[in-house]
Amino acid sequence: MAKAKTVFFCSECGHESSKWLGQCPACKSWNTFVEEKQSVTKKGGAKPRRASASPMNMSEVSIKSEERIPTGIGELDRVLGGGIVTGSLSLVGGDPGIGKSTLLLQVCRNLVNAKRKVLYVSGEESAHQIKMRAERIGAFEDELLLFCETILEEILEGIRKVRPEFVVIDSIQTMFSEELTAAAGSVSQVREVTAQMMRIAKEENIAVFIVGHVTKEGVVAGPRTLEHMVDTVLYFEGEREAAYRILRGVKNRFGSTNEIGVFEMCADGLTEVENPSKMMLNGRPVDASGSVVVCSLEGTRPILIEIQALISPTSFQMPRRTAVGIDYNRVNLLMAVLEKRVGLQLGGCDAYVNLAGGMRLGEPAIDLGIILAIASSYKNIPLPEDTIIFGEVGLVGEVRRVSQGDQRIKEAEKLGFKTCILPKANVDSLKIRTNMRLLGVANVREALDCI
Ligand code: TYD
Ligand code: MG
Repeated sequence: MAKAKTVFFCSECGHESSKWLGQCPACKSWNTFVEEKQSVTKKGGAKPRRASASPMNMSEVSIKSEERIPTGIGELDRVLGGGIVTGSLSLVGGDPGIGKSTLLLQVCRNLVNAKRKVLYVSGEESAHQIKMRAERIGAFEDELLLFCETILEEILEGIRKVRPEFVVIDSIQTMFSEELTAAAGSVSQVREVTAQMMRIAKEENIAVFIVGHVTKEGVVAGPRTLEHMVDTVLYFEGEREAAYRILRGVKNRFGSTNEIGVFEMCADGLTEVENPSKMMLNGRPVDASGSVVVCSLEGTRPILIEIQALISPTSFQMPRRTAVGIDYNRVNLLMAVLEKRVGLQLGGCDAYVNLAGGMRLGEPAIDLGIILAIASSYKNIPLPEDTIIFGEVGLVGEVRRVSQGDQRIKEAEKLGFKTCILPKANVDSLKIRTNMRLLGVANVREALDCI
């Protein structure tokens, strides 16, 4: 019988310690240590050495371009950088019910229909439930292999037996290794299962997708270390109530990160949204104060989206402030800039700032849009409907240049916008010809003069 040992893990970064600690010495976060029982199985002697384990000259390394399997879902391929890389391990994170299983089952369907051997391992749903879901998303022209199992060792054996090209593990939190005594979903189990899947992916050259649910803090439950271990990390975002879902590449060893894919949840599964800007701007109010359109660059793709602000005198002791889809602290900072640099009396006002469509943006280029939305609502003056805004705002109230200005202008022009409020530095370094009216501003005061 294996001897059980108690160890403590930081649930933030996975740092291991033999005793409980209040603060993690590695990532400095407080109260993150969790106790885990870890069994120590005796390994018989040293492992046999592999013959090829010696340093080599880089010039001897042959580059074979990685083989990619197109998923048949354009938006997913874009996030992955052009398809699934064989022998890679990917993690798909997201809130429960957001559509992770649906998306991966759709990928399975496309691969099966392209005559590839696919195994779907589920620890959450019965074969019957998977079949019902499969019926909704469309016809499978060939056989999909199903495996309802949670024991890692059984799964590994199953994979070795059927030798599929693509495997889905749904979800990491339900799988466990019999070698460890800790419960399924605990830090050590999640790490062990991921490590074993990584090994089999590389050894057998199988592409593996692991589903992981996220905690309230927005990290895949258990350790952040999971993100370091895998090749690709994708997050599925969006409000469960809203129909739109955003798939974001957070880490990608085979492509660029921060690329997004936009989907809509329909009765027959997820459908791709090819023109997200058009969708995001759908139903935008006309001639309403506090509504502006910004252009944010997500990965390589410019996205046009509406920001709404509502500023009204407060009837509370402390003004209320909320931000949906945008960083709350950023909104507070920009309001402070408006107070100090332009003299807007926002201290006694409630402020609500929203991003439309259940989208979440973090790019500083939307700063100027937030500023103008707030000012427009405060002054109760609507901005012209065909105006697009981008620019980063600094603490001194200066409007800074943002990258890829030309690309943003082109996208806005394509969607019929006529005027652009942008950093002056971007106008000075413009390389394209455009019919848009460009209003270059150097600081927040100049920007406010545009409305
Ligand atoms: P699911 O894919 O099971 O989410 P996860 O695996 O991330 O937990 O969630 C799907 C949700 O979407 C579920 O609430 C039902 C809904 N849905 C549809 O609206 N249309 C569909 O065709 C399918 C399959 C699911
Ligand atoms: Mg699921």
